[in-house]
Amino acid sequence: SPSSPSFALTRSSRPRSAEDRAKILEKPGFGLHFTDHMVAVRWEKDTGWHDAQVMPYGPISLDPAAAVLHYGQEIFEGIKAYRHADGSVWTFRPTANAERMQRSARRLALPELPVEIFVESLKQLIAVDQEWVPGGEEASLYLRPFIIGDEVFLGVRSAHKASYYVIASPAGPYFAKGVAPVAIWLSTDYARAAKGGTGAAKCGGNYAASLLPQEQAYANGCSQVLFLDPAEGKYLEELGGMNVFLVYGKENKLVTPALSGSILEGITRDSILQLARDRGMVVEERKVSADEWKQGVASGDITEVFACGTAAVITPIGQLKGNGFSVGDLNAPAGAITLALRKELTDIQYGRAPDRHGWLVRL
Ligand code: PLP
Ligand code: COI
Repeated sequence: SPSSPSFALTRSSRPRSAEDRAKILEKPGFGLHFTDHMVAVRWEKDTGWHDAQVMPYGPISLDPAAAVLHYGQEIFEGIKAYRHADGSVWTFRPTANAERMQRSARRLALPELPVEIFVESLKQLIAVDQEWVPGGEEASLYLRPFIIGDEVFLGVRSAHKASYYVIASPAGPYFAKGVAPVAIWLSTDYARAAKGGTGAAKCGGNYAASLLPQEQAYANGCSQVLFLDPAEGKYLEELGGMNVFLVYGKENKLVTPALSGSILEGITRDSILQLARDRGMVVEERKVSADEWKQGVASGDITEVFACGTAAVITPIGQLKGNGFSVGDLNAPAGAITLALRKELTDIQYGRAPDRHGWLVRL
């Protein structure tokens, strides 16, 4: 059908040797190495999606007047492929990523990629690069689908030409220290998103805006930045690339900022809410202020805090720092509920526990 083009395959003439690949997979880091192939699908306003290809990984050539280089018309996704003990390769809730990419596309005035093409593109890439999916506890192949407006035109309007790509990168833990608690910087100088802005879309511009506050976080000994709501500068939104949860241990309760329109709707976030309900926890999606965090830690009501996302999985937050204050203890061990939820989620992803919600799709 016209909405589901078939993928033409051009194999790389110079794939990495099995030896080079094994060396990379042994200690992949995050976002440093890429597989031998990538996917490209073209879009034009008049003809829609066409020319789907799996091709050798390599530089893409862009006209210097391509829209994305001037007005930032770009969106992306992040999703992982996991190797199970029997060697099979699976991904997690790809329809949710495909649908989020469609919502991002709408906000950035880019074309919506049909869900079937999104899922099929991951299958096609894994079909040629499956040996790049690492085995082992924390390892995965991180898939990065993205769409750019690449029409050659400097007028400010949505591009009439776009391209969808998928690249893949073997991944170990996002944070160098694995599941060790991290310190978070509360950004009061900068916001990530605005009312009516692009906060809920996964577009490159949001990340560009987060880089200076992220530098401030590093300068203050923190590994991530936490943003507050843009209207009042009072309520937690999310980290630069992760959602956030607070655990009220005595009440067996999990609290996360409600989707405000400027928060990215994390698929890990949604899955954790489900797993917590399954465990009989009280789950609240609501406004949470930074003061509630500070006071809750001080009073002992908030017993654990963690961040979550595809890349970071579930990462304990040991400490919150900001201009003139610091709460929590970076040296305290990760909390029991954080670790239990992390184990439940990764056990499903890696096929060690039953997939009771039907979240896995074989690639
Ligand atoms: N928030 C932001 C800003 C992100 O970049 C991400 C990562 O994708 C998330 C939250 C978590 O989303 P997900 O769980 O779908 O990866
Ligand atoms: C992800 O978790 O997939 C992200 O996009 C976070 C970061 C790497 C941008």
